[in-house]
Amino acid sequence: TYLKGSAGAAAAFTLAGCLGGGDEIVIGSDIPYRPFEYETTEGELVGFDVEIAQAVFTDQLGYEHRFKPTSFDGIIPALKNGNFRVIMSAMTITEERAEEIDFSDPYFTAYQTVVVLKNGDISSKEDLKGKTVGVQKGTTGAAAADSLKEEFDGNLNIQRYDQIPGAFDALRNNQVVAVINDNTVNAEFVNQSDSVTFLEGSGAAEEQGKNAPPYLTLTVEEYGIGFRQDDDEFRKEVNGALETIRENGTYDEIYSKYFSG
Ligand code: ARG
Repeated sequence: TYLKGSAGAAAAFTLAGCLGGGDEIVIGSDIPYRPFEYETTEGELVGFDVEIAQAVFTDQLGYEHRFKPTSFDGIIPALKNGNFRVIMSAMTITEERAEEIDFSDPYFTAYQTVVVLKNGDISSKEDLKGKTVGVQKGTTGAAAADSLKEEFDGNLNIQRYDQIPGAFDALRNNQVVAVINDNTVNAEFVNQSDSVTFLEGSGAAEEQGKNAPPYLTLTVEEYGIGFRQDDDEFRKEVNGALETIRENGTYDEIYSKYFSG
């Protein structure tokens, strides 16, 4: 009975860790990443991911849910350790990550883009050679910067910030000449700072025949919700809910709140 009891306790502990107690789904996310997950000045957590989570986990599937702020750089090990049940953090589905975790069906298309100072001296990708760019640690923006460095035969310095606002501040303060990051997040930054603009040019989106944004794209990416590899039943449930909210108009409603076009 002793063994049985302790096994039972261990199982209960694991389950509570996964579900956050009861039927609550705990979601790991790096915040702020506007417009996907960020706090209003009143301290309310809002954003595209936040509303999709409400629609999927709670409205469709009937679970309580909450977001748990987590550094993006360590988010995959944290998921695997059971710190939360899923990752929802504007996370790009990549082959490398898919070796560690499973992803939902894609729920958003994104592009790596470059933002620069309007009155700076960077007007093409080639102008970045020998300069310093800013990225968020562990992101596909950082990976895009690594590729660019290779393309430039090592002639690029990369500053890695824990969170994206750190990289944006560095650009405004002339500590980096560009930030490489997801297009819609960069677009928010451009909208909010008069001194910043997108680097123009044609790139990955055009090459892949996508309806391209009117600026340089280094990659085309898809976001997915991340799951532990032993959580396939739940992943399928979530895929079903994602499909339902696409069909019933909820997805489009949320989309048009945060994005135009
Ligand atoms: N899409 C990029 C990636 O997956 C950046 C995601 C950053 N997300 C965040 N919430 N900070 O690497």
